Amino acid sequence: MNRLLEDKVALVTGGGTGIGRASALALANAGAKVVVSGRREKEGFETIGLIKRNGGQGTFIKADVSKESDLEVLVAQTVATYGRLDVAFNNAGIEGEVGKQTHEQSLANYRAVMDTNVLGVLLAMKHEIGAMLKNGGGAIVNNASVGGLIGFPGVSVYVASKHAVLGLTKTAALEYAKQGIRVNAVAPGGVETPMLHRFTGGPRTEFFNQLAGMHPVGRLGRPDEIAEAVLWLCSDKASFVTGLTLTADGGWTAQ
Ligand SMILES: NC(=O)c1ccc[n+]([C@@H]2O[C@H](COP(=O)([O-])OP(=O)(O)OC[C@H]3O[C@@H](n4cnc5c(N)ncnc54)[C@H](OP(=O)(O)O)[C@@H]3O)[C@@H](O)[C@H]2O)c1
Repeated sequence: MNRLLEDKVALVTGGGTGIGRASALALANAGAKVVVSGRREKEGFETIGLIKRNGGQGTFIKADVSKESDLEVLVAQTVATYGRLDVAFNNAGIEGEVGKQTHEQSLANYRAVMDTNVLGVLLAMKHEIGAMLKNGGGAIVNNASVGGLIGFPGVSVYVASKHAVLGLTKTAALEYAKQGIRVNAVAPGGVETPMLHRFTGGPRTEFFNQLAGMHPVGRLGRPDEIAEAVLWLCSDKASFVTGLTLTADGGWTAQ
């Protein structure tokens, strides 16, 4: 266990699976008390079980990031349980419909993806920042994607949503810089998670292998590799870093 987040209280949305789970574990391993959130209880409690097995502390609180009342309660319960909020990883996201070109996009897909990926991040920051201002500061990391930096055929709404996450991140970084709240983003390349398996049609499919090959390092990322970037951005080691998009993509966007 490292002590980078000793005595800190952290919140992770979408912490029941994938990158969110790995990050919740990394934050807890650094000494933070971690509130894990998501819509599915079983997965959320599994993450809490893993945190506790490693000697960490955490609690699951069910919340849907597209609902403002859920986020209001989530942040209020976090503060009621642990006394404050110092760190937040706004990670919850969905890919939406995959393999549809722009002229085939549906309004339902647009609304579902934007409500989770963009509205969810905006509302999360709104309530987290309210709590952090009361502590005199904090650190927020939003999960974007390489899809926030470049296009990707077949997922135009997802790509638009991740570009929007970076806009929200940079603007909030400027707005709260003087109040001690740092706001950064991670932009992962392809990372082997349930989302990636849905996106590619499953592990070792032709598209899965093709996607892995798009990364100059010749492979997909692991959730714990993104968690390391999240942990660093959340910690005081990154005390002069705000408004950054930290790309962790095996070199994809360097091409
Ligand atoms: N895997 C990749 O290659 C990759 C690359 C770049 C960026 N990302 C981003 O990384 C983030 C995590 O994705 P992942 O790859 O780890 O996939 P994942 O395992 O599917 O995780 C997504 C998480 O978001 C939660 N979630 C979805 N909708 C939600 C909602 N309305 N309210 C609350 N929680 C919600 C899900 O939990 P519930 O269903 O229980 O709510 C789930 O735990 C996403 O923002 C994704 O866009 C992933």
